[in-house]
Amino acid sequence: MSTNSGFGDGNTLPLGRSSGTSTVHRGELDRERNVSVRDLRKSFGDATVMNGLTLEFEDNAVTTVLGPSGTGKSVLLKHIVGLLEPDSGRVDVFGKNIWSMNENARAEMRKRFGVLFQDGALFGSMNVFDNVAFPLRKHTEMMEEDVRDVVWNSLREVGLEAAANREPGALSGGMRKRAGFARALVMQPEVVMFDEPDSGLDPVRTSLLNDLILQVHEQHQGTYILVTHDIETARKVSDYVALVWQGTVIHYGPTAEAFESDDPFVQQFLTGSSAGPLGMD
Ligand SMILES: Nc1ncnc2c1ncn2[C@@H]1O[C@H](COP(=O)(O)OP(=O)(O)OP(=O)(O)O)[C@@H](O)[C@H]1O
Ligand SMILES: [Mg+2]
Repeated sequence: MSTNSGFGDGNTLPLGRSSGTSTVHRGELDRERNVSVRDLRKSFGDATVMNGLTLEFEDNAVTTVLGPSGTGKSVLLKHIVGLLEPDSGRVDVFGKNIWSMNENARAEMRKRFGVLFQDGALFGSMNVFDNVAFPLRKHTEMMEEDVRDVVWNSLREVGLEAAANREPGALSGGMRKRAGFARALVMQPEVVMFDEPDSGLDPVRTSLLNDLILQVHEQHQGTYILVTHDIETARKVSDYVALVWQGTVIHYGPTAEAFESDDPFVQQFLTGSSAGPLGMD
């Protein structure tokens, strides 16, 4: 794992799950990786979106999935959370094929995930505190007093204590992302997925959010999967980079290796250049 976060001191955050405490990571007991996708195929009508995609995500690392718009990144995440069923291929989570389990088992599995979808998806009618508390109130038997402790810790962690009583409509884009992040983290998930955490944010807020992601990952560990268009986000945040194009992975490997690659596809991707083998289709 890279330690490029600059937050390696680990003594500033309130939730006490450091990389040294192994008890929380049920995934570590499994021989299989937490998340692996094999030969995933999915079409919508005539359009093939997943075209034999295979990817084993590294545990306790941040993997960035990069790829052009419409290439199937969000569809990939939806398969991993079990919201979309593959036409063929398999998605294994915590060592089990999620489509060979029943809906109840899939729902249990999802409790071990924290997901931040592209639009933040906060409940507009609930204030930030209740949004963050929602998964705990819905999925656990936790006493309200304990819920409050956990939620305040999460809000402190993302720097949103002062906004606890505000409704999402009264937050800036960056604050909404942080609130979504707090909600994604509140169940202490082993797998955290972000769909474009940086969309709609200015460069400074993107950079701050990236720092926050690294800081929280350093503290809690877990398998982080992050979809982004932003090359700098990929460079800064990820241990591994996966480049997705036309429904398959065209490159996967450690971040430094990807950025040093002389493969023209990889270079074009990572420089965002219009010149090269990748076209608009
Ligand atoms: N439920 C659906 N029904 C039909 N088509 C869909 C569905 N979900 C996604 N698609 C199509 O699948 C393709 C891939 O969509 P996806 O949202 O995964 O792209 P993406 O890589 O996340 O793009 P972006 O970077 O713009 O978010 C698109 O052409 C989209 O229209
Ligand atoms: Mg998307």
